[in-house]
Amino acid sequence: MNKDIVVSGIRSTGNLHLGNYFGAMRNYVKMQDEFPCFFFVADYHSLTTHPDPLQLKPNVYKVLAENIACGLDPNKVTLYVQSDVPEIPELYLMLNMMAYKGELEKTASFKDKARSQPDNINAGLLTYPTLMAADILIHKAKYVPVGKDQEQHLEMARNFAQRFNHRYGELFPEPYPFNFGNELIKIPSLDGNGKMSKSENENATLYLSDTDEVIRKKVMKAKTDQGPTEPNMAMPDYIENIFDLMKLVSGNDVLEKFTTDYNNCNIRYGDLKKQLAEDMVNFIAPIRTKTIELQQDISSLQSIMKMGKEKARESASNVLDEARKKMGINYYC
Ligand code: TRP
Repeated sequence: MNKDIVVSGIRSTGNLHLGNYFGAMRNYVKMQDEFPCFFFVADYHSLTTHPDPLQLKPNVYKVLAENIACGLDPNKVTLYVQSDVPEIPELYLMLNMMAYKGELEKTASFKDKARSQPDNINAGLLTYPTLMAADILIHKAKYVPVGKDQEQHLEMARNFAQRFNHRYGELFPEPYPFNFGNELIKIPSLDGNGKMSKSENENATLYLSDTDEVIRKKVMKAKTDQGPTEPNMAMPDYIENIFDLMKLVSGNDVLEKFTTDYNNCNIRYGDLKKQLAEDMVNFIAPIRTKTIELQQDISSLQSIMKMGKEKARESASNVLDEARKKMGINYYC
């Protein structure tokens, strides 16, 4: 096993969908056998948008349950909740001294949020990248499996790490984004418009919590047309999307059959979608069932959280001690 440490945070809002599964979770599951991994629910980060306190707990349970149902093994990875590790906000405070107002204000995610919630442009939102840097640096992580949208945050984490090292002496490795070479997988939405999404476009997105019936309904509504008018015609985007989704969950024989039918102009889109719907149901149903099972077993979830908390704090407190010493906060030794 590689010794380089991996950290990633999972947002605790919104429903996980097929894009999350093939984009992020599958990577996590692969990484757990190759690296020491720390994965956590980023509940502090979610506070930047003032979620309903009553929703927080079920959301955190749900995210944990979903991740375990997708294959994360709490005995292999350290799986924990951010707010269970007080060393993180402590390092966040220190790193804030190394984060400048100008660069924080220029962050793309901050500008987006400031635009979308103009009545709640709080300091937590502004310093979101410092908290994220603390999440990563607190374990001296080197790799962070995240999507493109997080690259700027990671660049900032590298800057904060460098500044700390430069000012107080070498402590933090510089963290880099990591993927297994499948970053280009885009999971198209079912209506031919963009990608599947956590909150928009709900009818064109397949969620891991969708029932069999809902999955079938959504897939059958996917946009099609009259069919190809000449052999070997290029596929319009929305048809290609259906085939792309098939590639994820259907067998090769199925894929070949429908590709040949398309090329020979005798494809029936109704059959194509029916097949995709069944294959999707077979893929999603076990994940959904396992998630529900776990959500109903709160005491197991709590022991998993506790175990993760202990492992995470052990690693975090060592690094935090080092950081305090480097900064001169070592009054008792
Ligand atoms: N900002 C990340 C997202 O929106 C979540 C996150 C929080 C994270 N802390 C992190 C990801 C640390 C990687 C490492 O998806």
